[in-house]
Amino acid sequence: MFSGIQPTADSFHLGNYLGALREWVVMQDDYDAFYCVVDQHAITIAHDPAELRERTRLSVAQLLAIGIDPDRSTLFVQSHVPEHAQLTWVLECLTGFGEASRMTQFKDKSARQEEDHVSVGLFTYPALMAADILLYRADAVPVGEDQRQHLELTRNLAQRFNSRFGGTLTVPAAHIPKETAKIQDLQDPSAKMSKSVPGGVVELLDEPKRSAKKIRSAVTDTGREIVHDPEGKPGISNLLAIYSSLSGRTIPELQAAYEGKGYGDLKKDLAEVLVDFVTPFQEEVRGYLDDPAELDRVLARGAEHARSVAADTLREVYDGIGFLRPL
Ligand code: TYM
Repeated sequence: MFSGIQPTADSFHLGNYLGALREWVVMQDDYDAFYCVVDQHAITIAHDPAELRERTRLSVAQLLAIGIDPDRSTLFVQSHVPEHAQLTWVLECLTGFGEASRMTQFKDKSARQEEDHVSVGLFTYPALMAADILLYRADAVPVGEDQRQHLELTRNLAQRFNSRFGGTLTVPAAHIPKETAKIQDLQDPSAKMSKSVPGGVVELLDEPKRSAKKIRSAVTDTGREIVHDPEGKPGISNLLAIYSSLSGRTIPELQAAYEGKGYGDLKKDLAEVLVDFVTPFQEEVRGYLDDPAELDRVLARGAEHARSVAADTLREVYDGIGFLRPL
């Protein structure tokens, strides 16, 4: 399996964790797992170089702190494995312009930026993502709902390469969790929780008290009943989904426990559950950041193993496409 995360913020947020990263931790037991901090994706929008370096390290520390075990999984940084960029070019040449134009994430992100700052890299971003996945012949890709369309494109590209060039690329499947596929913004439960909308996002490295306050002041719905009904009660349903996955209690269990109680009770308890989760996490992150040499060793080991796998796939693709092998 393969998955990736962008180092584009000072902290991962609750949507990243519940939509994807939690599955990464679980799946490393059963899969040969490759986890990547995708720094090349992070430069598709305007960025600061020193900040990118810092955030890449911080991302690795957070992945280790949530329980990614570099002895069982391959943890690495995308730019350390040049095959990602190399395969991207081939995939770009297999991707239709219209096909890429239909990517909703590109449409959303480009609409949010000033017109002259929309880069070609932002447009071809899904081909780089497809390269990430196909290089490792991943069967399963744990992601949140917002990546479903990119996964569909990846599948189409693998099938296209295989049928046109007699390749053997694995056609991957998205692995999207049921209840937490789309964690919503706490202030606007009709929108996805996202780092680009600061108000209603819970950042894992934020001051725990501040995060608790954000939970307590989350926008909830009219009425009083605590029931899971994403259409009718998006705010309360979002809080129930978060609560359930952080505590391990099922949604029906929580509904029963809060029968007759108010929204305030639920928020207060969830705020505590959240604080109990982020406090030890932050401690762990600090520990990893205190030993940058060890982080570098982990990444060097990860990149070396990733390259050995990626190079084999790239060779097959180059042969299939008709590139002459160098002596
Ligand atoms: P990124 O960095 O935006 O997000 C990382 C993961 O978090 C999930 N996610 C969410 N899940 C539920 N609710 C939310 N509100 C929420 N917000 C984010 C994302 O779905 C993602 O799984 N293009 C990818 C990174 C990437 C990648 C890959 C992923 C690059 N190459 C190859 C998988 C395989 C991205 O920008 O994710």
